[in-house]
Amino acid sequence: MSNLTGTTVVLGITGSIAAYKAADIASKLTQAGVRVETCMTPAATRFITPLALRSLTGRPVYVDMFDPEAETAEVHVALARRADAVLVAPATATTLARLARGLAEDMVSLTVLATRAPVLIAPAMDNQMWEHPATAANVALLRERGAAFAGPAIGRLASGHSGAGRLESTERILGALRQTLGRSGPLAGRHIVVSAGGTQEPIDPVRYVSNHSTGKMGFAVAEAARDRGARVTLVATPSTAALETPYGVERVTAVRTVDLRDAVLAACADADALIMSAAPADFTPAASAEHKIKKDGSGRLLLALEETPDILQAVRDSGLPVLRVGFAAESRDLEQYAREKVARKGLALIVANDITATDAGFGTDTNRVSIFDATGGAEHLPLLSKYDVACRILDRVAALLP
Ligand code: CTP
Repeated sequence: MSNLTGTTVVLGITGSIAAYKAADIASKLTQAGVRVETCMTPAATRFITPLALRSLTGRPVYVDMFDPEAETAEVHVALARRADAVLVAPATATTLARLARGLAEDMVSLTVLATRAPVLIAPAMDNQMWEHPATAANVALLRERGAAFAGPAIGRLASGHSGAGRLESTERILGALRQTLGRSGPLAGRHIVVSAGGTQEPIDPVRYVSNHSTGKMGFAVAEAARDRGARVTLVATPSTAALETPYGVERVTAVRTVDLRDAVLAACADADALIMSAAPADFTPAASAEHKIKKDGSGRLLLALEETPDILQAVRDSGLPVLRVGFAAESRDLEQYAREKVARKGLALIVANDITATDAGFGTDTNRVSIFDATGGAEHLPLLSKYDVACRILDRVAALLP
């Protein structure tokens, strides 16, 4: 489930060799619960057949503007009105020119002209065509009018040359589409800062103290905030290195708790809310050795640890008007500790979970949490995907923001 589920997206395919990749886009969108209405230019049908798209989407495919068999005489206008978003992928240089000029010469350009839904364009062409001032001017004009762009990516082109012009990956196009659909969401115009992962406190150049946090919950919060229209800064630790940065999210890396504090404070300067899903180490080695610590024959090593600064408290002390949400991972007396932390840290909300559960918490894709608020209210959620948990937290945040 994402903000794609239940939407209607018009997929406009134009005549680039990358048109074959539109099949994958159509398939992934359909799997995500999108009703995909496909329009193709005549040139696109030279690269991929309407039948392929019809089979993947289970819906009619529109190519002929003057089709006497069409369900309505004005099928293009009907499509344009039904759409929650229009995605043109791949978009050729010619199509960009048509869209910029407002020409309605085929089902794709015509639908874009007739719609008031947000438009996302994923260009694909030779790099010299992409870099041509004519194309650059068309892109600038379309952006100015509110169209969003995904890509093109830089890499190997069909010509054998390498440069900017490759169709963006399906995964990133879907991310961009989610961001585009989110523009009118409940967090539109908001800046949300999310922290994720466990910090690493160095003992010496090769060892560190850390914890089991993988950052999956924080990444899900970042994704869900983007899907609701927010600008998102994700401050993530190296333990999250394996996780892909969600499309459209700004990622900042912080290693130690003090680095995380500095990065979070900097990001909070103009933020509306901070969601602290990171697990900052509460203790750090009192001194980090400059060189690798060697065995000294005594059979043991005593490590002196000192407390790290509390980040939520540092943001509170900064006086910045940021709504703060904390997490509490507990192995016992969950409710009591969570209620005590909301009060002690002066939080708007705390999201508490029992880390002894095997289907929730560290490294899993699901979580079972309770949300406690500053007024003593408690909301106990069932086992949900981390994305769905994130949506529930953000719905609460959106309602609390002034
Ligand atoms: N947190 C923080 N700065 C720290 C440690 C934790 O801002 N140095 C944040 C976490 O990101 C989380 C919340 O505080 O959102 C609660 O973290 P937790 O470790 O459960 O709480 P502590 O304050 O460390 O309390 P305790 O160790 O007693 O459980």
